Amino acid sequence: MQPASEHGAAVAMRPALYRVIEVGRETADAVTLVLQPAADGIASALPGEFNMLWASGVGEVPVSCSALSGMGLLVHTIRDVGRVTHALCSLTGGGVIGVRGPFGRGWDVGSARGKDVVIIAGGLGLAPLRPVVHAILGRRTDFGVVSLVVGARSAAELLFRAELDSWWHERRIAVRTIVDRPSSGWAGSVGIVTNELRRVTFDPGNSVAMVCGPEIMMRVVATRLTERGLPPTRTLLSLERNMQCGAGVCGHCQLGGAFVCVDGPVMTWDVVAPLLAVPEL
Ligand SMILES: Cc1cc2nc3c(=O)[nH]c(=O)nc-3n(C[C@H](O)[C@H](O)[C@H](O)COP(=O)(O)OP(=O)(O)OC[C@H]3O[C@@H](n4cnc5c(N)ncnc54)[C@H](O)[C@@H]3O)c2cc1C
Ligand code: FES
Repeated sequence: MQPASEHGAAVAMRPALYRVIEVGRETADAVTLVLQPAADGIASALPGEFNMLWASGVGEVPVSCSALSGMGLLVHTIRDVGRVTHALCSLTGGGVIGVRGPFGRGWDVGSARGKDVVIIAGGLGLAPLRPVVHAILGRRTDFGVVSLVVGARSAAELLFRAELDSWWHERRIAVRTIVDRPSSGWAGSVGIVTNELRRVTFDPGNSVAMVCGPEIMMRVVATRLTERGLPPTRTLLSLERNMQCGAGVCGHCQLGGAFVCVDGPVMTWDVVAPLLAVPEL
């Protein structure tokens, strides 16, 4: 019999087959896939965890869960940026892919109970944060003031537009959107996420921030939050690095002494800041 850890690693390497049951177009280059297990599925994920999605004959990439389903379904929102993501974004209903996971350390939503929560997403960064918003809305009275700031290059590139509108109309959380380039009919803010963040009020002594987006945006946002008195230990960021195994075996995702696939992708700013200060680490 294998030792438990080797057995765990072996299981983590074996993809389970999933069938596409729904494809939703989010933007010109991003889709949301809903996947159903073709036989035995994988374990359910927590907010911020990711799966390795394998397109047969093309390759495998890490993709966050953009919603959590209690019925064994997987929901992933994918932007077409290269070979594997293109194959995944080209899938239609009935298509089959392999899935390994869930992997990683996600958002510690429990640590935000009783606190104000500031959620900041840039572009596709809203995908891994959407399960956090769902979890908070499911237990809204457990949290203080909750603010969501979403930035995108243009209105057409905002993900989950209908859901964002419904969150805004319900006013159970404060939703702010900002775009780099306004289009006709856009009545919201124009500029970068950090401009909009200035308008968000929170109690730095009793708040948690969760940030996901391009690395440069996360660095600036985390720095601004620290300047406003939020302790770096309560600023959570989701990092991206190239990954191969997803399970702490191959070393592809190494960042300093950490493996992003097992020590992250969600890490706190006090840990991440010194690592990102080293060029090309
Ligand atoms: C933990 C984690 C969660 C992720 N969640 C999502 C998600 O929810 N939705 C989504 O669309 N994408 C997500 N990504 C990014 C996704 O994995 C990459 O876009 C994908 O690996 C690109 O592979 P490709 O073969 O399509 O592109 P390639 O042909 O390999 O590369 C195309 C471009 O993407 C860049 N790239 C390649 N791999 C990565 C990577 N891992 N991270 C960042 N840039 C990369 C390359 O430098 C190149 O510029 C996540 C990545 C990580 C690490
Ligand atoms: S992807 Fe292999 S160790 Fe992280």
